[in-house]
Amino acid sequence: MRWVIASDHAGYPLKEEVKALLKARGVEATDLGAHDTQRTDYPDWGHRLGEAIARGDYDRGVLVCGTGIGISIAANRHAGCRAALCNEVFMARMARAHNDANVLALGARVVGPGVAEAILDAFLTTAFEGGRHGDRVKKIDPGR
Ligand code: RB5
Repeated sequence: MRWVIASDHAGYPLKEEVKALLKARGVEATDLGAHDTQRTDYPDWGHRLGEAIARGDYDRGVLVCGTGIGISIAANRHAGCRAALCNEVFMARMARAHNDANVLALGARVVGPGVAEAILDAFLTTAFEGGRHGDRVKKIDPGR
């Protein structure tokens, strides 16, 4: 699996933590930025990562902004990118099991590092169930 990660300035500290958590689990994610807490615009990062997933450059991604909302909205403009904003573990499990989400979005001002780690682990370890869920996921991006 090729992983990619991005954030705006508000998400930067949590992005760094998530990167380290991924590395500890044997996952080396390409970091698109931001690379510091200097103010930036979340749509730029959401589009950059969403495009990269849609092109097929990466299989999985993590996005972080203040709430996880804006950056996931931007990423989801790109067909084939299914970014799921998850604030707790059940959402992460369902995002994988039912929606085959390929991007996890986190809100750095919403979840602390411990909750983010539990969410990330659920996202990493839960398999897509396929079947009727597969038929529904296909309807998200018809013709793809
Ligand atoms: C930045 O202040 C903040 O608006 C952004 O990180 C994000 O929460 C947008 O959805």
